[in-house]
Amino acid sequence: MCGIVGYIGKDAIKDILVDGLRELEYRGYDSAGIAILEEDEIQSFKAIGKLKNLEEKTKDFSTHHFGLGIGHTRWATHGKPTELNAHPHLGEFSYVVHNGIIENYQELKKELQASGVHFLSQTDTEVIVHLFEKNYKEINDPMAAFEKTVETLEGAYAILLITKADPQKIYFAKNGSPMIVGNDAKGDIYFGSSDAALIGKATEVIYLADGDYGYTSADGIFLYHDKEKKGLNKKPLIGDKVSAQKNGHRFFMEKEIYEQSEVLGDTIMGRVLDDQIKFDELDANFFDGISEIKICACGTSYNSGLACSYLFERQAKIKSSVEIASEFRYKEPLMSKDTLFVVISQSGETADTLEALKMAKKAGLKTLAICNVDNSSIVRLSDYTLLTRAGIEKGVASTKAFATQVMVMWMLSLYIAQHKKTISEKALQDEIDAIRHIPTTVMVEDALHEKIKRLSKRYLHGHGFFFIGRDLFFPLALEGALKLKEISYLHAEGYPAGEMKHGPIALADSELFTIALMPKNVHYDKIKSNVEELSARDSTILAISPLAFDLADDFIKTQHDNHPMSEFFEMMVITQILALEISVRLGNDVDMPRNLAKSVTVE
Ligand code: M6R
Repeated sequence: MCGIVGYIGKDAIKDILVDGLRELEYRGYDSAGIAILEEDEIQSFKAIGKLKNLEEKTKDFSTHHFGLGIGHTRWATHGKPTELNAHPHLGEFSYVVHNGIIENYQELKKELQASGVHFLSQTDTEVIVHLFEKNYKEINDPMAAFEKTVETLEGAYAILLITKADPQKIYFAKNGSPMIVGNDAKGDIYFGSSDAALIGKATEVIYLADGDYGYTSADGIFLYHDKEKKGLNKKPLIGDKVSAQKNGHRFFMEKEIYEQSEVLGDTIMGRVLDDQIKFDELDANFFDGISEIKICACGTSYNSGLACSYLFERQAKIKSSVEIASEFRYKEPLMSKDTLFVVISQSGETADTLEALKMAKKAGLKTLAICNVDNSSIVRLSDYTLLTRAGIEKGVASTKAFATQVMVMWMLSLYIAQHKKTISEKALQDEIDAIRHIPTTVMVEDALHEKIKRLSKRYLHGHGFFFIGRDLFFPLALEGALKLKEISYLHAEGYPAGEMKHGPIALADSELFTIALMPKNVHYDKIKSNVEELSARDSTILAISPLAFDLADDFIKTQHDNHPMSEFFEMMVITQILALEISVRLGNDVDMPRNLAKSVTVE
């Protein structure tokens, strides 16, 4: 995820910007840049890779007077991680940094190009600076030009803009992406896309609201909303850097669970249009000659692949199979060239998945990576990549990576369905509406978290957990069980509910915990009778469902039952929080569970 910093004052501007960016490194990035305006001159530096590359490039540069600067760490979404695509983006006399995605950038870009503007990058961000300069040339008032620019933008953004047309100010705007502005006792002003960049510098801050915009200068912060001047609701900035990185949460895993609404918004942005699914990353030939999909991955990524194989067959009517990469490698698999080989990986470095990908490439298959880390080994090797845009995931137990993988593949199944015309316009519209609803579905309400926290004390012992579900909810059961065992060290299995009577039901007694995923929209009556069978054998049942279930010992009522995938994502969050709270009660290290590594780069 990208990071933004800004500063106005007399201190060493470059050092302040780079320090701020360093505090945002934990969010992940693949390039960085700064632009500094001092005595009417703008200097800009960009570097791909780590911040040390930017520091090396700027080592002979320093400022000595009052000035201002903006900085950015970029996590590639539109266009590769190159210097040209790195922020700040330059117009003729202005620079901009931006987090988020400008949804209408293509139409804006076409209009600007038609009026003679030349674009240097492949990013959506660059339209902002050109649009501002075009407006400024017409209006000759920087604030009015900025206001008009912001009004034209659709999508999510946190923007800082500096311009030689008004060299004493930083213009800012926020909509959907976080932005904080603060000041210290001297009156120096700081910007950051997260608290972490401001701690130790600003003493009081304003958390900007969506629709806020304005400018800052040596005279202070000038905030506007809907063209009206707005009061400054300043709050003292307290806290340490690590807790700021956790956004006030106890663990990174908890932060990442709560972040799912935001990152899923990022995942769908620019890809879900009003009447179609669009992937800029895939060209027109992408699906030519393909009649089968094989998905290959490990761990959580395997579980997301399994879930999505149901969607590929159901929506896109294409034969799909899923393989565990470590098994696939040695089974002497038969591969045919009409197969699209899809690898899924959060890190992009998992050894078994990477080797499976190499085998598929060697056999001449078309390959697609669903990955969270651009420029990773898997991304570099694949013919095509769809980035999941989850931002850096620190908790070893994967949460938001799983959510975004499922989302990307749900969209992909619809994209293929469009291409193959296996979906009606009406059905596609319903799916699009459902996708847009998902960021709301995964928001965590305090009451829900509190309820799960209280329930968790009853699930700390016993001789095992069975997470059960049917259809798409079977892979979700696998994932729920994997989460629990990773961080609680309790034995948990995910099982297809209909299979219980073929063996595992022999384990049922009051010390066997059944976590039953009972969606209203997917075979409710079938799963209900499977759970009744377990209840009859005295298994302790925690039912998760929108429909009341009398035989449950514990019951979590879900709220979003308008679509099977809404139910899927809401139940996903519940199982994640359940695992987290059980682990906390057992006193385990939630973020770094024993024996596990975040990225498994060995066989
Ligand atoms: O980076 P990858 O998605 O390729 O990693 C695959 C697995 O190692 C990973 O999903 C692992 O199972 C997680 N710890 C699950 O929470």
